[in-house]
Amino acid sequence: MAKLNGKIALISGGTSGIGAETAKLFRSEGATVIVTGSSQRSVDAARAELAGIEVLLSDAGNVAATKILVDQVKAKHGRIDVLFVNAGIAKFAPIAQIDEEFYDSQFNINVKGAFFLIKHAVPAIPDGGAIILTASVAGANGGLGGSTVYGSTKAALRSFGRTIAKELAPRGIRVNTISPGPIVTPILDKNGFTAAQKEGFIEGAKARIPLGRTGTAAEVAAAALYLAADATYSTGAELFVDGGLVDL
Ligand SMILES: NC(=O)c1ccc[n+]([C@@H]2O[C@H](COP(=O)([O-])OP(=O)(O)OC[C@H]3O[C@@H](n4cnc5c(N)ncnc54)[C@H](OP(=O)(O)O)[C@@H]3O)[C@@H](O)[C@H]2O)c1
Repeated sequence: MAKLNGKIALISGGTSGIGAETAKLFRSEGATVIVTGSSQRSVDAARAELAGIEVLLSDAGNVAATKILVDQVKAKHGRIDVLFVNAGIAKFAPIAQIDEEFYDSQFNINVKGAFFLIKHAVPAIPDGGAIILTASVAGANGGLGGSTVYGSTKAALRSFGRTIAKELAPRGIRVNTISPGPIVTPILDKNGFTAAQKEGFIEGAKARIPLGRTGTAAEVAAAALYLAADATYSTGAELFVDGGLVDL
């Protein structure tokens, strides 16, 4: 039997990569799925690619937009059974090259927007619902070149996962975190890397991953499905999908 039959799932950042793969998997498991993206172009492209999935334009870094998004989903679908807080950007640079815009853009989208999306969505999540956060192995490990700011945004998400889980436990809402390692998705194409820098980043990561390879968006989607549907006695947990890279 389909694992998410009749469920309403909202995925922030679902136009590509992990979010898009998870949207397809959730849909195949019977859920009604709504995903978001940041630009008309990416939203249009996702609409063409993601059959049967609703794709909305909503800036994850804009607090007012997170409220409008939740209101829109609630008005149309009545509730949000599964909230996958997944939208994020990743920029890498040594400290000396980091300016305020570099810092703020990542904190606004990865942390502030994520927090307010959860805040606005919680009243629309029925008792027994699920929230899943996409953090990163970079939130736990040092040594991923230039990841000071990105890693700290993901460390904040790991913290949200633990604290919000405790706050929502009385309502039976489970809150869990996925921390992927390097996964081949369009994310590195969006941060200004040249092809050579991207290749160097991936090869450098591979050399440190115990399983010896990068992961796939489908492998992360499988973890999201597990946390959404099967992990009925897990809350405040963090699932690393990282080929063994984390160094806790
Ligand atoms: N790939 C990895 O190696 C890796 C590892 C650890 C963690 N992660 C995390 O996994 C999550 C998904 O990333 P991905 O690898 O699947 O990359 P991706 O393909 O670039 O997906 C990122 C998604 O977030 C959306 N997004 C970004 N900024 C947004 C904004 N301001 N408003 C609305 N949507 C926005 C993107 O939509 P648009 O294209 O429309 O902007 C896209 O749908 C991120 O949180 C990332 O930090 C990725």
